[in-house]
Amino acid sequence: MSATAAAVTGNGASGKGAISIRNVTKIYDPGGADVLALDDCSLEIASGEVCMIVGPSGCGKTTLLNAIAGFHSITEGQIDLDGEMLCGPGKELATQGADRVVVFQNGALFPWKTLAENVAYGPIVQGVMNKAEARDKAEAMLAEAGLGGVADKYPGEVSSGMARRAEIVRALINDPKVLLLDEPYRAMDALTKSIMHESLLEVYDRTKVTIFFITHDLEEAIFLGDRVVVMTTRPARTKKIVDVKIDRPRDYRLLSSEEFRVLVQETKEAVHEEAVKAFEAGERELA
Ligand SMILES: Nc1ncnc2c1ncn2[C@@H]1O[C@H](COP(=O)(O)OP(=O)(O)OP(=O)(O)O)[C@@H](O)[C@H]1O
Ligand SMILES: [Mg+2]
Repeated sequence: MSATAAAVTGNGASGKGAISIRNVTKIYDPGGADVLALDDCSLEIASGEVCMIVGPSGCGKTTLLNAIAGFHSITEGQIDLDGEMLCGPGKELATQGADRVVVFQNGALFPWKTLAENVAYGPIVQGVMNKAEARDKAEAMLAEAGLGGVADKYPGEVSSGMARRAEIVRALINDPKVLLLDEPYRAMDALTKSIMHESLLEVYDRTKVTIFFITHDLEEAIFLGDRVVVMTTRPARTKKIVDVKIDRPRDYRLLSSEEFRVLVQETKEAVHEEAVKAFEAGERELA
């Protein structure tokens, strides 16, 4: 890891998957509706960093995640993973790969498979493990995540929190370099969310996978992140980066500390400024 990467990682551990986003522009429906979602957007994410992305609704956060994952093309610029071009000049769309795994907002476990079968599914269909190997690994990883007792239950038979944790386990079975999360805990109550956070941090401490995590919850952003990137109103660019220099492991006592409150406030001011701009722009369009 480079000196710069080590500095922004903030956890001192060598991680996986450095992402370099350089001057990325994305226009949806060019020549038609012409929606400029990303405009000259640049961001360097160190290997093993927990990078939290916040910004006004509709600014372009999911667009950026989709470009990294290879679900959507970019119009200009370049995105690299560990120095290899994912998309850029002459290659508008990144190839989807097991090195980058997405956890979606609404969950995506197969309801007709048990948690263990869900976790084992990927490596079996990709042909990287045989059934028995995948099953053993799935069970071991679920046990490590505190889900050993429910490995044979179906998603409908466990709590939504357990199902979400199983999804993270499923995402990690192929040892990806990058975990891409788009508001994964959005609909959860505060208590379940706090359990999710501690569980994700525990997984992170073990795997040091690079995490790109979109959220609207600024406390969640500061609690989990090494850095919080505040995006501008659409088209999205990086407005401000808040460094969270708080030691890990972190626990919930942090939420009431002064340094935590100061960082949340600093982030809130930057997001609020952009949200006001978005609101005013919307009003002008309506006028
Ligand atoms: N397939 C599409 N075609 C046209 N416009 C799109 C498409 N997908 C997204 N957009 C527009 O691009 C802009 C950015 O959308 P995006 O979903 O990236 O925002 P976001 O920051 O993730 O928003 P939210 O916080 O509400 O999830 C929005 O104006 C959206 O309407
Ligand atoms: Mg979104």
